[in-house]
Amino acid sequence: MTPTLVRTIAELRRLVAAARVRGASIGLVPTMGALHRGHAALMRRAREETGLVVVSIFVNPTQFGPHEDLARYPRMLEQDCELCGRERVDVVFAPPVEEMYPAGFRTFVEVEGLQNVLCGASRPGHFRGVCTVVLKLFNQVQPERAYFGQKDAQQARILQQMVRDLDVPVEMCICPTVREPDGLALSSRNQYLDAGQRQHALSLYQTLQHAQHQIAGGERSAAVIRQRMEERLVATPGAVVDYAAVVDADSLQPLASLRGRVLLALAVKFGATRLIDNALVDVPE
Ligand code: PAJ
Repeated sequence: MTPTLVRTIAELRRLVAAARVRGASIGLVPTMGALHRGHAALMRRAREETGLVVVSIFVNPTQFGPHEDLARYPRMLEQDCELCGRERVDVVFAPPVEEMYPAGFRTFVEVEGLQNVLCGASRPGHFRGVCTVVLKLFNQVQPERAYFGQKDAQQARILQQMVRDLDVPVEMCICPTVREPDGLALSSRNQYLDAGQRQHALSLYQTLQHAQHQIAGGERSAAVIRQRMEERLVATPGAVVDYAAVVDADSLQPLASLRGRVLLALAVKFGATRLIDNALVDVPE
């Protein structure tokens, strides 16, 4: 089954409205394309839970900084549509930039506090761009449910806050991180890695595993966990550490001692390629 490829908001609205008349609920999976099994897992869940599955594929310029990889971000619409077809997606919405940001566009959404830490600290304006495009997609599709990955933990947390604060009538479904057999989190950016970098990139997952073992073994000092994570990453050939953080999963603020829901979050650069990974740990009081 080939999904219907849609380029305009008007056409998208027509298809969604027709599905609603049939009584279908709508599921939305926002993506930037270069689709992999991580994206496919979101589509599969949407397929199980909703009647019309819409996947958006849009490399959103407003979430890229001036020196980031917007121009070289992989674009492979034909292959992406094939993957969507295999996952029985109904509609692929792939608008041109002018459709999403026509001349004169001036409105942006910001989630204060949560947007300036972790990835936001080294990518100023990134989450402003993410929130703006996702709210636009929500208004264009008006889905009952929207599907996001835990892989981007801060993004998921910020979007949940946006939905709550702005009364957006959508149920946010956050799905587990899909990994390669050796543990590397799937990412569209993994294809930038050369063979050596790919091997060393495993260090992110191993560092998270190691930290989780330490916590399971009774370590409760956030400083100790953070320091050991950083040391492991720094010792990885070719790795330049952006951050290794131990934060409260709700506030994203650093913790002194580990309690409640804790987010271990890493960002590391290999050459020009920035990789992130994280683990959520429930620490008993
Ligand atoms: P993109 O990086 O294409 O990711 C689209 C969705 O897939 C996000 O919700 C992301 O968390 C999820 N995802 C990516 N890799 C995953 C993995 N290994 N396991 C599980 N889920 C994974 O995130 C974006 O695009 C953009 O910021 C977007 C939300 C589309 C706004 O432009």
